[in-house]
Amino acid sequence: MNRLYLREVSQLDAEEIEAYRAEFPASGMRVTYDPYRIPGLDRLEAFDSVEDWLSFCAEMAGKITWYQTRRKADGKTVGFLCLRHELKYDDDDEEFASHIGYSIRPGERGKGYGTEQLRLGLQEARALGLEKVRLICRDTNAGSNRVIRANGGVLVDMIHGEESGMNVNRYDIFLSSGGGDMNSVLETIQNRRSYRGKYKPIPVPREDLTAIMEAGLAAPSGCNKQTTSLIAVDDPDTMRKLHAVIQPAVGETAPAMICVLTKRVIAYRDRCFAVQDYAAAIENMLLAITALGYQSCWVEGHITDADRIGDEMAAILGVPDGYELVCFLPVGVAEEEPTAPKKKPFADRAMFNAFQGIIENP
Ligand SMILES: Cc1cc2nc3c(=O)[nH]c(=O)nc-3n(C[C@H](O)[C@H](O)[C@H](O)COP(=O)(O)O)c2cc1C
Repeated sequence: MNRLYLREVSQLDAEEIEAYRAEFPASGMRVTYDPYRIPGLDRLEAFDSVEDWLSFCAEMAGKITWYQTRRKADGKTVGFLCLRHELKYDDDDEEFASHIGYSIRPGERGKGYGTEQLRLGLQEARALGLEKVRLICRDTNAGSNRVIRANGGVLVDMIHGEESGMNVNRYDIFLSSGGGDMNSVLETIQNRRSYRGKYKPIPVPREDLTAIMEAGLAAPSGCNKQTTSLIAVDDPDTMRKLHAVIQPAVGETAPAMICVLTKRVIAYRDRCFAVQDYAAAIENMLLAITALGYQSCWVEGHITDADRIGDEMAAILGVPDGYELVCFLPVGVAEEEPTAPKKKPFADRAMFNAFQGIIENP
C-alpha cells in the first residue's frame, strides 16, 4: 500500500476544501456528533470562510498541522488529516482528546485509504518525536476501529460522553515499538504471545472476527485441500455453553473465540496434511489477532486429550460428522500485560549450511 501522500494545507487548497466539505452533508455519513464538524478539517466549522480557516491553520503552525491526503495516481484528494502535536491542542474535553483526526471522502471509502492515511499521519507524528499517539473513535464505527487497530492501536478503554450520548473507544499507538508501521509483519510475529490472563468485557466487532478468519483461510494447505474450517463464536449464550464444558477453565473472560475444525482427508498418495493445514491457519490467525490489538492463545492440548472436550464443543456447535474440533482461540482485549516465555537461544535451533554448533540444553 503505497498509493497516497500527505501534503500540508495552504491557501491554494481553498476550493478543494470547499468541494470536500460539500460532499459531507450530501453523503449523510456523519462521523461525529457535531453535524458541522468534519474530522481531519477540525475547527473549519467555526470559520465563515475556508480562507479564514486556512489563515488560522497557518497561525497554528508548530501546534497543529492539517494535511490533504492525495492519491499518487491522479492527484485527487481522498481525505484530510489533522495532527495535534500535543493533546492539549485538541479543543475537545481532556478525556476525549486525540492527536489525530481524519476522514476519507465519502465516495473513496472501502478502498483501504483510511489505513494508509493514518499510517502516513503516524509517520509525521514519529517525525515530530512523539512516542505514543492517542486516538479515539465511536464504538459503533467499525471501519475506524479497524483502521486504528490495523495501525497497531491498543484499546485503552471505552468511555461514555454525557453531552454527545456516544460511547467512544480510546486507543494508544506506541510509535517507539513499531505501531503504525504497516511493514511490521516481523514485529507482529515477535510480539505474539500466548495470553492466559483476563480479558476486558469489550465486544470484538464482527469485522475483526471476519478479518481474523480471512487470515486463517489465506494460509497454505497441502495440495490446496483446504481441510480447515472455522467457527467464530460471539453469542454470549453459546460462549457460556462452551465454557461450561471447557474444564479447567481457560479464556473464559474473552468475549469471543474462534473454533478450528479439521477434516482428515488424504491429500496425496497416503498423505494427510490436515494437521499442517490447521497449524498454518492457526498461526495466521494468531498474527492477525495480534496485529489488530487483541490477545489469544492456541488452546489445543487442553481440549484434545483423553476427556475429548473438543468433541463436546463440536456437539454444542452442531458440527457434522467428518469434522473434528481441534483447537480454539479466545479473542479479546487483554486486561493484563502479556508475558513472554523463555525461548532457547537462536544458535541452539537455527544454523547455516550444516547441523553444527549445537549446545544441548538439559
Ligand atoms: C499444538 C499446540 C497446542 C497448544 N495447546 C495449548 C493449550 O492447550 N493450552 C495453553 O495454555 N497453551 C497451549 N499452547 C500454547 C503454548 O503453550 C505456547 O505456544 C508456548 O508456551 C510458547 O509460548 P508463546 O506462544 O507465548 O511463544 C499450544 C501451542 C501449540 C503449538
